[in-house]
Amino acid sequence: MTYKVAFSFADGKTLFCPVQGNEILLDAALRAGIKIPLDCREGVCATCQGRCESGQYTQDYVDDEALSAQDLAQRKVLTCQTRVQSDAAFYFDFDSSLCHAAGPERIASVIRGVEQVSDTTAVLHVDASQYPRQLDYLPGQYARLRVPGTEAWRSYSFANRSTAANQLQFLVRLLPEGVMSEFMRERCAPGQTLEFEAPLGSFYLRQVSRPLVLAAGGTGLSAFLGMLDEMAVTGGCGYPVSLYYGVTQEADLCELTRLEGYRQQIAGFELHTVVSQPCETWPGKRGYIPEHFDSPALAAQPFDLYVCGPPPMVEAIKGWIGDQGIQGAHLYYEKFVDSHAGR
Ligand code: FES
Repeated sequence: MTYKVAFSFADGKTLFCPVQGNEILLDAALRAGIKIPLDCREGVCATCQGRCESGQYTQDYVDDEALSAQDLAQRKVLTCQTRVQSDAAFYFDFDSSLCHAAGPERIASVIRGVEQVSDTTAVLHVDASQYPRQLDYLPGQYARLRVPGTEAWRSYSFANRSTAANQLQFLVRLLPEGVMSEFMRERCAPGQTLEFEAPLGSFYLRQVSRPLVLAAGGTGLSAFLGMLDEMAVTGGCGYPVSLYYGVTQEADLCELTRLEGYRQQIAGFELHTVVSQPCETWPGKRGYIPEHFDSPALAAQPFDLYVCGPPPMVEAIKGWIGDQGIQGAHLYYEKFVDSHAGR
């Protein structure tokens, strides 16, 4: 049995491909040259997610950190775990151009150094200038880094924009345990070779046509540093940009000087830091990010909401949208789990 499946994208394009009965949807798409962004292929990372708009399907394994019960009720799917049982149509909230790109490449680079930027965070500086052309990635996308001396791979968002010099930055959370954290603390030295795979992911800054609200949890900030870096080049995006940056303790906050600098470089940029477990003398915002959204103002106008952080934070913000009856928010999000993705 062969089914006809339509893949439609945010730019309005639709691509079609035949899918065999009981075949994994991602395999059929790749065979037809539709390169849906992917990472784990195991139903965990949610990079390959889309939404079924018509037709019948089943899914094999869906990790509950990847798609929540609410997501499943909305017919969201992981393409790497989906098998269609009829003709069907799926929607992907990114442009079709992402599926025509050459795909991620394996690249050899050199570590320039590690810069500790908070008690729990470091910036890994990487020199990929040996790569023969500019490494193109979209602000918000990520790379998989092979931890030197091991077979372990960990994913990190680019923390700066793509330039011809191919000098890369990644914000890395330093965990008490963890293969990358141990490497960074004990073995990392300038000049070491670092292999990575990029670009990856469908979380990236779209064409801006309305105000932006960015919500970063912990080292989820990395993706937004890449986006803000891009906006700083042109002086802004033509709309107000509000970044909410949430951490557990104030000692986790990092890159504040850089973020403050964006106030001068990006017209209409506002920064809100939020600490969930601050010390008594912390003078700033306390609690969790959604508690500090300006709900009446946001309910009054359409806006794009980008969220990058741990799954509970993403779910809390989705819950806030529902609870407040916010109609005009277009939500883009990326969930990550420290222990899985290393971020
Ligand atoms: S590639 Fe499908 S969930 Fe990770």
